[in-house]
This record gives sequence, structure tokens and C-alpha cells, in this order.
Amino acid sequence: MTAHPTLPAVTVLGLGAMGQALAGAFLNAGHPTTVWNRSPGKGEELVARGATRAATPAEAVRAGEVVVVCVLNYAAAHAILDQVTADDLDGRLLVNLTSDTPERAREAAASAAALGVDYLDGAVMVPVPMIGTPQALIFHSGARAAYEKYEGTLKALGGQSAYVGEDHGLAAVYDLSVLDFFWTAMHGLVHGFALAAKDGVRAAALVPYLKANVALLESVVEGTAADVDAGTYPGGLDNLAMEAEGIEHIVHAAEHRGLDAAALRGVLTAARRAVDLGHGADTWTSTIEGIRSPA
Ligand SMILES: NC(=O)c1ccc[n+]([C@@H]2O[C@H](COP(=O)([O-])OP(=O)(O)OC[C@H]3O[C@@H](n4cnc5c(N)ncnc54)[C@H](OP(=O)(O)O)[C@@H]3O)[C@@H](O)[C@H]2O)c1
Repeated sequence: MTAHPTLPAVTVLGLGAMGQALAGAFLNAGHPTTVWNRSPGKGEELVARGATRAATPAEAVRAGEVVVVCVLNYAAAHAILDQVTADDLDGRLLVNLTSDTPERAREAAASAAALGVDYLDGAVMVPVPMIGTPQALIFHSGARAAYEKYEGTLKALGGQSAYVGEDHGLAAVYDLSVLDFFWTAMHGLVHGFALAAKDGVRAAALVPYLKANVALLESVVEGTAADVDAGTYPGGLDNLAMEAEGIEHIVHAAEHRGLDAAALRGVLTAARRAVDLGHGADTWTSTIEGIRSPA
């Protein structure tokens, strides 16, 4: 697509898989786009599509009104931004879409504040092929006014992009919390397949039942969140003491078959701790008390 001169000029620092996708989405949306990468040879296709390649990070930053950095980690982002002065960044919005911890995001925000630069910290929540689609989610936190000013530009990267608060660490908090759920669930999915396979059951045979389970999980997300926020876990037709027994069966069956059951043992430990704290008659949500009281 031809760059549209009325749209804000953007810069993308870092042309790994994600940086290239971000720059490609900006180009698709018609933003004049400048790119830079530490190593040569990346982003040829972007340049062929109209992106400008800068020779240095400083030159790249000066070309953009919105400057996105997306590299391996914050050490890499700092290594790049150390080559840029406050003058280079003057009047620009710096958006760091490198994934890391809330603590590092807050440190980066303090460095940006020392330079007098508007700064947003972000976390990309979707894989590369989804970047630039209406379904793509990117969390942003930090300078609210800057987010609102450039929301249209940032939504070129992901239609579901969400601003989650002034505290720069919040995008990482949302990122880590959602991924905490995702990876634990993915581990459970694969672990369940491993357990079934020990008795000759193919993974495919479980698919319809797992999908029904996922739907069940979806139906309890909102209520569980409400109970966590309220700090009440009223038991009724199910209770934690009974559920802990059920998990024990899975742990024993898995270990009996020679499988690693460490993660599930961790779940059991947290549940038992909550029982010990007096939540045996409450719902599963009360395991949060066990999680909050590590041994
Ligand atoms: N890929 C995904 O599906 C995905 C999804 C969600 C979030 N993310 C996040 O997006 C970020 C980038 O991921 P990616 O997939 O693009 O990684 P990647 O393909 O491995 O690319 C890494 C990028 O970091 C640069 N880099 C590494 N160390 C550097 C340093 N010391 N100085 C300057 N540049 C340095 C690399 O430059 P060189 O080319 O010079 O090595 C390259 O541009 C990560 O924080 C990742 O967690 C990725």
C-alpha cells in the first residue's frame, strides 16, 4: 500500500519475526514506516514494500512520530536506546513492545521519564501471523494521553489492543497473568494426552471431550473472577476437600505410569494448603489462599 502522508510516521526498531510483522502492519495501514535492525539482511521485503531503512537507531528515531521497539528482551532494547539521545526522541512517543517483567517495564519508564519522553509499555499477546488483524490483542500501559492520541496508529497493529492503565508495569502484569493461565492450561492439555497414551488412548479420541471441558472452563471464568475480587468462595454442590481427593487420583495414576506429575503435585499442594487454612468446604476458587501462602 502507498504511504499516506497524513498518517503519523512510524519507526520500528528491531526486525525479528515480531518486529517485521509490526512494520508490515504499519505499511499495510499506510503509515510512512522507517525500520532499523542491529544485524543487516533483515527486512528486505519491508523495504521492497516501501519502508525506509535507517542506518542508525538515532536516524530511525528521528524519522518517526511513533517509535516502536520490539526486540529479544529489555537488555537489547536498552542497548539500542543507549544509542539515541533525548534530542532524537524529542516530541516522539516511544512504545516498547518487548516482553518482560512489570519491574523492568517500570525501570524502562523511569529511564524514559529521565529523557522527558512519552512512553508506553506494551505486550503482544498474539503470534506473528495475527499481527495487523482485527482480532490481534496488544496490551498498553503508561501515558494515557499519548495512548489516546495514537490509538488509531497503535490499532493498526492489533484491532483488539487495550489500554490497561497509567502504571507502566500493567501491560506486563496483564501479559504474565494471561500467559500464566495459558501455559498452565497447555501443560495440562499435553499432560492429559500423555496420561491417556500410557493406556493406548490416542490424543484424537479425547478431542470432543476436551472441547466440552474448555467450554465448561469458559463458563466459570467470570464467576471465579467475581469470587476472587470479593474474597468469598461459597461451597455448595462441590467442595475443595473432595476435589483435592480427585486430583490425588490423577497424580497417583500419572506417577504409577512413570510420568512427571510435578505440576499437578503443585496444584494438589496449593489445594491442600487451602484446606488446611479452613477452606475444605469452599469452592475451588479458595485455592487462591493456598497459592498466596507458599510453604
Ligand atoms: N514471535 C512471536 O510469536 C511473539 C509473540 C508475542 C510476543 N513476542 C515478543 O516480541 C519480542 C521480539 O520477539 P521476536 O519473535 O521478534 O524475536 P526474534 O525473532 O528472536 O528477534 C529478536 C530481535 O531482537 C534483536 N536483538 C537481540 N539482541 C539484541 C541486542 N543486544 N541489541 C540489538 N538488538 C538485539 C535481534 O536483532 P538481530 O537480528 O541483530 O539479532 C532481533 O531483531 C520478544 O519480546 C517476544 O517475547 C513475540
